[in-house]
Amino acid sequence: MIFEMNSKATIKPKCSNDGRSEQNSDHDRPKRPRKPANNTHALQVGIRDFLSIPSSQSLLRELAIPTETITKSLPKRFTVYEPLLLLPANAFNAPPEWGSFCAALSPEQKSSLYDSIAKTFHRFDVTHVAVNAPIALSTQGQENRMRSPTGLIPLHGDFGSLCAPTGEENGQPSQADLERAFWVQTVQNHGIKQFWAPLHTMFSRGNVKEKARILGEGPSQGTFVGLDEQSLEGRKSSDIAVVDMYAGIGYFVFSYLKRGVKRVWGWELNGWSVEGLRRGCEANRWGCRIVRVLEDGKLDTTIEHLVDSLSAQDRVVIFHGDNRFAADILAQIQQVMEAQKIWNPVRHVNLGLLPSSQPSWNNACKILDYQRGGWIHVHENVDVRRTEQMKEGIINQMTELRKSVYSECGIPGSPFVDCCHIEHVKTYAPGVMHCVFDIRVSPPQGAHT
Ligand SMILES: C[S@@+](CC[C@H](N)C(=O)[O-])C[C@H]1O[C@@H](n2cnc3c(N)ncnc32)[C@H](O)[C@@H]1O
Repeated sequence: MIFEMNSKATIKPKCSNDGRSEQNSDHDRPKRPRKPANNTHALQVGIRDFLSIPSSQSLLRELAIPTETITKSLPKRFTVYEPLLLLPANAFNAPPEWGSFCAALSPEQKSSLYDSIAKTFHRFDVTHVAVNAPIALSTQGQENRMRSPTGLIPLHGDFGSLCAPTGEENGQPSQADLERAFWVQTVQNHGIKQFWAPLHTMFSRGNVKEKARILGEGPSQGTFVGLDEQSLEGRKSSDIAVVDMYAGIGYFVFSYLKRGVKRVWGWELNGWSVEGLRRGCEANRWGCRIVRVLEDGKLDTTIEHLVDSLSAQDRVVIFHGDNRFAADILAQIQQVMEAQKIWNPVRHVNLGLLPSSQPSWNNACKILDYQRGGWIHVHENVDVRRTEQMKEGIINQMTELRKSVYSECGIPGSPFVDCCHIEHVKTYAPGVMHCVFDIRVSPPQGAHT
C-alpha cells in the first residue's frame, strides 16, 4: 500500500491492497483501498509526540523557539512503500525553526524522534524509515551507471548489511546479500506488483504514466501504437517479442507482459534490480529466466542450451550484464530459434535510460525486426525549448543507423523512420522534461520476403 502526500497536504492511496498479504493472496481478487482517513497528519503526529517529551521541551526553550512556532509548520510530506516510510530529502531541515531544532538534537534524541515517527506509522505496517535523495548521475567522479540510490539514508529499522567480499565482480550482490536485504513493494497500474531493495535500486514513481500508456490506459490512452492487430499487420501482441535495454526491476517489462506480448528479452547491469525483477515476475506469475553475461560478452550458458530450456511460460529472459552485447547475443538466439520455427519477431525496443539512452541506439536499430520493422521508444531528458530539434536529431540518427543494418545485408534503399508520438512523462528539472519519443521504423521495399 502506498500513501503519498502531495504538497497540498492531501493523501492519495496510490494502490489499493495490503502489500503485506498480497504475495500469498489470490491474484485475481479485487483489491480494496484501505481507508486513508486521518493519515494526512500522520507525520506531524509522530513529531508532535516527540516534541511533547521533557527533553524536547527543554531544547526548544534553550533555542528560544516557541512550541507553537514549530508545531504550526511541521513537515507533512511522506510516501509509504510498504513497509518503508520514505521522507523527502528536506524532511529534517525545513522550515528553518524545525531545521534548527533537528540540527541541535543529540544522536540519542534523533533516534528517539525516528522511533516516535515510526510508532505513528505502525498501523500502516511501517517498520522502516528512510530519507530519500535524488539519484546522483555520478558518485566520486564515476558515472553511477546502475542509478543506485546512493543518497538514501536509513533512519530506523534494519536495512541489511552486506556480506564480506564474495568473489563477485563489480560490487554485485551475493545470494546471501539478496536474502538478507530489506525489500519493499508497491502495486501500480491495477495490480502490477514491483519489488526493490531501496538501498540498492532506484524507484521512480513518476513513470506510472508511461507504464499506463504501454497498457493502453491513462491520460495518454491510445497513443502507444504497435500492440494491436491493426498496427501489427493482422498479428496479435502474443506473436511478438519486445526488448527492454534497461529493464531495472521491471518498470516497463511488466506492462508489456500484462499487455500480452509473448516474451520480453531484458538487459540489466544491477544484480539488485535483476533480483527485484525476478521477485516481481514470481508475484505476478510470469515465468522468468536469468542469464549471466560475463565481462567479455559470453553467457554463463550456451545459446543452444538456453533456447532448448526455454518454455512458453518463460515470458521474460533477463540478461544480467551490459546491453552493449545485446545485438550480437540476440542475433545468435534468433538464428537458433528461427531454425526451430519458434522465434517471435522483436517489434518494440524500449530504451528507458535518463538523461539519455543514446549509447544503445545502434544496438536497438540492429535488434528491431529487419523485415517488418517496429517501434523504438527513446527516453530522453529534453530542454523543453528544443523538443522538435531533439525529435529531428533522433529520426536522422536512427535512419542512418538502420540504413547500415540493411546495407550490411545487401538490401538497397532507405528505411522510413518517423516519430509517431512524443510523450511528456514528467518534469525532470526546471525546463527539462523526461520525454519518450515513439520512433516508428519501417523497412525499405526490398526487405520484405
Ligand atoms: C533509470 S533505470 C531504469 C528505470 C526506469 N526507466 C525508471 O526511470 O524508473 C536504468 C537501469 O538501466 C540499467 N543500466 C544502465 N546502463 C546499462 C547497460 N549498459 N546495460 C544494462 N543495463 C544498464 C541500470 O542498472 C538501471 O537499473
